Amino acid sequence: MASLALTAPAIDSLRADALVIATINGPDGLRLAPGAEEVDRALDGRLVDSLSALGATGAEDEVVTMATLGAFGVPVVAATGLGKASADGTPVTEETIRRAAGAASRALAGRARVASLLALAAGGPPSPGLVQAAGEGALLGAYRFTAYRTTSEGPSPPAAVTLLVPDPKDRALRAATKRARAISDAIGFCRDLVNTPPNELPPARLAERAASAASKAGVDVEILDEKALKRGGYGGVLGVGGGSSRPPRLVRLHYHGGGARIALVGKGVTFDSGGISIKPAEGMDKMKSDMAGAAAIIAATVLAATLELPVEIIATVPMAENLPSGTAYRPADVLTMYGGKRVEVLNTDAEGRLILADAIVRAGEDEPTYLLETSTLTGAQRIALGDRFAGVMGSDKLRDRVVAAADRAGESMWAMPLPNELRQALASSVADIANVTSERTAGMLAAGVFLREFVAAGVQWAHIDIAGPAFNAGSPWGYNPKGSTGVPVRTLLAILDDIAAHG
Ligand code: BES
Ligand code: MN
Ligand code: ZN
Repeated sequence: MASLALTAPAIDSLRADALVIATINGPDGLRLAPGAEEVDRALDGRLVDSLSALGATGAEDEVVTMATLGAFGVPVVAATGLGKASADGTPVTEETIRRAAGAASRALAGRARVASLLALAAGGPPSPGLVQAAGEGALLGAYRFTAYRTTSEGPSPPAAVTLLVPDPKDRALRAATKRARAISDAIGFCRDLVNTPPNELPPARLAERAASAASKAGVDVEILDEKALKRGGYGGVLGVGGGSSRPPRLVRLHYHGGGARIALVGKGVTFDSGGISIKPAEGMDKMKSDMAGAAAIIAATVLAATLELPVEIIATVPMAENLPSGTAYRPADVLTMYGGKRVEVLNTDAEGRLILADAIVRAGEDEPTYLLETSTLTGAQRIALGDRFAGVMGSDKLRDRVVAAADRAGESMWAMPLPNELRQALASSVADIANVTSERTAGMLAAGVFLREFVAAGVQWAHIDIAGPAFNAGSPWGYNPKGSTGVPVRTLLAILDDIAAHG
């Protein structure tokens, strides 16, 4: 990923391959956002007219590039739209800046050194938050997944990003830059894991990649292989992973930062075919992303260690491949979960909750104050909230704190209920509970109610269903490429920060 630096906004002495400015879609059409004044002067006040002639409107995700014809030392200006922000009095948010910066990075392939005025686009002196957002957006938009190409896909994304700020020596702004760098690296790591093809990422390999990143960051690692899982009685993980020749794993990461003890759990289904309850072929390729929860938890744990957050984190990450075969688990099987609860499997495609149940019970034994779990758990999440909002369920207080943290981090999340009557809908005629209801209604909530059965008493918990937002199957937008988005790494960091600050 690109480098990130700060420098003073002296247009005359600036050397770069492109300069990013922000535009606004105002009531009377295109307007310049704050920060572009000096650029406009260097172009004899004709910036708005020139950009308008090229079709610029200031809309979100619009990037219009323009030659400067020697007016100053940067050959190209890239005008990135903030949308209607600030036109109707709504303030320009950090997330607006982050998205506009990402769109600019995506549009500036082939231009190695990019300078950006986006930290100034909200008006007034740039806050650390705006510098961080402009930096994150630029770096995240410059992400590419090239590990499996033998030939180049085309011009490379920007390699060096410089944010222009009045006082580049300001300590808070420099810290914000460092933080943007660390967060973008963590999201890049998460995206790489999720984008990796499933033949290349069986549970054992995912476990190894988690272990190597964690040990580099000074985080303790324990990997339970299939023998250890059998000895421990992890019936959910073993049941789901039983159909694959590539056995399951359970990874435990321990970061000792002091402070509140937080359990993190993430779904690591390295490929979800549905198993014997097999999915339709159409779209099944997307199910390589069914370990996005695991990837985000691993990346967030490593990030917390890198940033030396004053909290204790114990991550419990179950990993399994859900395939049909002669050894696969089947509908009507009863699994004995870790901790002894018995679950009747009525659909082998509701596998995430089974591996998570084992992990949640194991995590509870560590007696955490908080338990945060995230998973690409239900197609119903996408039906209810679409592909940009995650659904958050759990104990009321932590659920609402997670939604507020997501808001600060610029990730979209929405609180969802856990209706008690759904527990009856999960009743089994032979075991303690079934893994699905017989209705298609409230599928996201039913999965949450299932998970609740396995959370230890007294633990504040939250479940974040990221089935939609974790993976962008459509066109790139903002700082999101096609493929993995890295959601919810930034929310996880924000809630960890919140807990570090307020307990
Ligand atoms: N991994 C899927 C959920 C999913 C669907 C994630 C689409 C991302 C995009 C999960 O394991 C699953 O198959 N859930 C079933 C549950 C059903 C059988 C109760 C679903 O949502 O259809
Ligand atoms: Mn499934
Ligand atoms: Zn799944």
